[in-house]
Amino acid sequence: MPGLTSPAKSPDAWWRNGVIYQIYPRSFQDANGDGIGDLTGIRQRLGYVAALGVDAIWISPFFPSPMADFGYDVADYCDVDPRFGSLADFDALMAEAKALGLRVILDLVPNHTSDRHPWFVQSRSSRTDPKRDWYLWRDPAADGGPPNNWLSNFGGPAWTLDPLTGQYYAHMFLKEQPDLNWRYPDVRRAIYDAMRFWLRRGVDGFRVDVIYHLIKDQLFRNNPPNPAFIPGGDPAHRLLPEYTADLPEVQSIVMEMRRVLDEFGSAESSRVLIGEVYLPVQRLMNYYGMDAAGVLRGAQLPFNFHLIGAKWQAQVIDRLVREYEAALPPGAAPNWVLGNHDKPRIASRVGAAGARLAAMLLLTLRGTPTLYYGDELGMTDVPIPMTEVQDPFEKREPGRGLGRDPQRTPMLWHADEQNAGFTATRPWLRLGSDWQSLAVDRQLGEERSILQLYRRLLSLRRHSRSLHEGAWSPIGARGNVLMYARGDGPERLVVLLNFGREQASVDLQALRHASQSLLHVWLSTLQDRDEQLAEAVPLRPEEGLILGRGHRPG
Ligand code: NOJ
Repeated sequence: MPGLTSPAKSPDAWWRNGVIYQIYPRSFQDANGDGIGDLTGIRQRLGYVAALGVDAIWISPFFPSPMADFGYDVADYCDVDPRFGSLADFDALMAEAKALGLRVILDLVPNHTSDRHPWFVQSRSSRTDPKRDWYLWRDPAADGGPPNNWLSNFGGPAWTLDPLTGQYYAHMFLKEQPDLNWRYPDVRRAIYDAMRFWLRRGVDGFRVDVIYHLIKDQLFRNNPPNPAFIPGGDPAHRLLPEYTADLPEVQSIVMEMRRVLDEFGSAESSRVLIGEVYLPVQRLMNYYGMDAAGVLRGAQLPFNFHLIGAKWQAQVIDRLVREYEAALPPGAAPNWVLGNHDKPRIASRVGAAGARLAAMLLLTLRGTPTLYYGDELGMTDVPIPMTEVQDPFEKREPGRGLGRDPQRTPMLWHADEQNAGFTATRPWLRLGSDWQSLAVDRQLGEERSILQLYRRLLSLRRHSRSLHEGAWSPIGARGNVLMYARGDGPERLVVLLNFGREQASVDLQALRHASQSLLHVWLSTLQDRDEQLAEAVPLRPEEGLILGRGHRPG
């Protein structure tokens, strides 16, 4: 049947079009009854993740940590924090994931360690300690203040004076997160060895935290003011990070990391390097690491966060996708992200109907989508009262809307269990008031829930070669409707997304031009239509449609 192909799985490059599911371990499932999620909890829920139809999980940090930044302050790169379990629990999780056909991606946090990491404890102990140069130490300025004007991403100066030795150390985040000195070869070696430790345990790759921040200016020059800064906004944006982010030298490190992964590659399983990079499209492309011969030697997936910040309008998204697709180096794998543990949830940004449209967009664009846990349930940001705030960013910059607790609340499993089945005790963050209606079991019982939409979209992606790996071709944005096609020839299908709050109608003649003899509704974001189309395609407010030939595969 046209359009019906067996799941296209290319084992050596699964990351080219597989779907990644991000798990924030504190919030997924608590198995040991302390109100905080853990590795055993994740293992117990892998059946759900596999049945959802994704290919890989990325687990945010679970390494030993004082939790100043909830695990993004690592005190030991090669172990598991007891709050999350043990190495044995990790191995059991790995084994279960493999048995279910799920890849496992870890979070590597190489820009900084915890201030309790033995490396830093040693480094700060004296100016002549052999580990002194593992971090960025500088003398005070003439007035005794910080050595330059660099700012922490969490507000305030990026420098803290250490009274013991009378020097300042640099930290792009909290003072409990001192930055490593990536110009120093021993640092590189130590982190690469930590990568090997986990690769030997079978992990399929890393998402590398703020990879574009790793190298700072050798001369420690002041960052210039940001002319676009709006007072009252994120205080870190007062300056442009010219000397603290995206320096050209960082590319050689990205390539070195990739080479570490390639040591473990084989035809059966290639490991993936994902870079956390918040940069304009053109600069983002450098992270694919194209060499003079056109070979891509950098990150296979420099995260593309542009949908997160984009205005939710058909024309804007149309321009963005075109710009991104056109900028990709030959052979580079595109990828798309709607949300993560640092950003407000998609359902809060665009509303419930918009979240369905966003799901269809994410899962019908070309390349590798990353889903943030709970977005498949339409979870929204949960307001956290001041007395319950956990996030250090909110504590440092209260009331500015920068806090990240609202998007990190517990996963909602069961409508009839205490705390949605996440924990038997008080959860580390409260649940939203709508938790019962959003719970997994409730939604599985509803034919037209957003969870069912995600499952259908994921199944369709897997079964339609066009969606899985076909070309992306723009048709355009007419009014509020974004239109594009995937695939070629008889398998070509069309996606129509109505971003507007009013009805819209698309002329079928125009679509025929793009795809000859269509068209059947394969899927509506409202999941209530299945018709063959005649002259015009009516779209309800914020409705999205996938149109194909013949019957829907999968
Ligand atoms: C980016 C991470 O996603 C965020 O959660 C963290 O606070 C910073 N990097 C510092 O590691």
